[in-house]
Amino acid sequence: MSDPAGVATLRTPAEVYDRHIGRYGRELARALIDAAGVRPGHRALDVGCGPGALTTELVALLGAEQVAAVDPSVPFADACHRGRPGVHVEVATAEALPFEDAGFDHALAQLVVNFMTDPAAGVREMRRVTRPDGTVSAAVWDYAGEMTLLRRFWDAAVALDPSAADRDEGRCMPFCTPGELGDLWSTVGLADVRVSSVVVSVGYEGFEDLWQPLGLGVAPSGAYATSLTSARRDALKEELRRRLDVGNEPFQLTARAWIATGRARR
Ligand SMILES: C[S@@+](CC[C@H](N)C(=O)[O-])C[C@H]1O[C@@H](n2cnc3c(N)ncnc32)[C@H](O)[C@@H]1O
Repeated sequence: MSDPAGVATLRTPAEVYDRHIGRYGRELARALIDAAGVRPGHRALDVGCGPGALTTELVALLGAEQVAAVDPSVPFADACHRGRPGVHVEVATAEALPFEDAGFDHALAQLVVNFMTDPAAGVREMRRVTRPDGTVSAAVWDYAGEMTLLRRFWDAAVALDPSAADRDEGRCMPFCTPGELGDLWSTVGLADVRVSSVVVSVGYEGFEDLWQPLGLGVAPSGAYATSLTSARRDALKEELRRRLDVGNEPFQLTARAWIATGRARR
C-alpha cells in the first residue's frame, strides 16, 4: 500500500513520538477541546489518539468513562490505554470507526486528518458517530508556515539537498491550509463550519533535546534525517541548529495549527 503522507514513520515507540511532536500535544488539545465546545457531562471520541495527549485532556474534563479513543498503531493505542485506565481504547482507523451511530457528543482528531488514507471517509465516519448538533473537529499543523520546528527542519533539508523538497511536509501534506481544511469539513456535509488558528509554545532543554527524537527516525522529518549518511545528517543537524539560532541553553518554540469545527446536522 502506498504511504504518501508518511504514516509508516509514526510506527515508533510512544516515548520517541512524545519527545518530538507529542510535547506540543497537551496545549494544542486544550485549544481543540475549547474550539469544539466540549463541556463536562459530554461524551467524546479521540480519533487517531496516538500515545494520548488529547485523550488525557478529555479525561481531565469529562472523566475516563466518558471518553473513547482509537488509533491504528498498536504501540500508540497500547500507550494510550496504559496511561488512562477506564478509557475505551480500540485499534481502528477513522475510516472504519467501531462505534454505533450518534453515540458521542463530539468527535475530535488532533494532527490526524492529513495522515488518513481516505480523509473524506474518515471525517464522514466521525460525523456518523456524532449525535445531531454535536461537533466534529480537527487540528492540523501549519506545515508551510508557522510550525517552527518542522518549517525550519525542511528549509534546512532543502537548502542542503534540493530533492528533499518532495518530502517537505509544507508541500506534500494535504489539508494544511485553512481553505483546504474548511472545504473538507463542508464537503462531508457538516454545518456551521469554522476554521480558526492557535499558536502553542513548548520548551526545550537545549538543541540536543530537540534533535534526539529526529535522530531516531520519528515522523516524516526524522525518517528523512535517518535516511541520510552520517556526514549529511550531521550537516543537516548543524544547518537546523543555525537556522533556529539556538545552542545548549533552554529555549522555546512556537507552532501554529489550524482548527476546523463543524456540526453534525439534525
Ligand atoms: C501525528 S500523530 C497524532 C497523535 C495524537 N492525536 C497527538 O495529537 O499526539 C498521527 C496519528 O494518526 C494516526 N493515524 C494514521 N492514520 C490514521 C487513520 N486512517 N485513522 C486514524 N488514525 C490514524 C497515527 O497512528 C498517529 O497516531
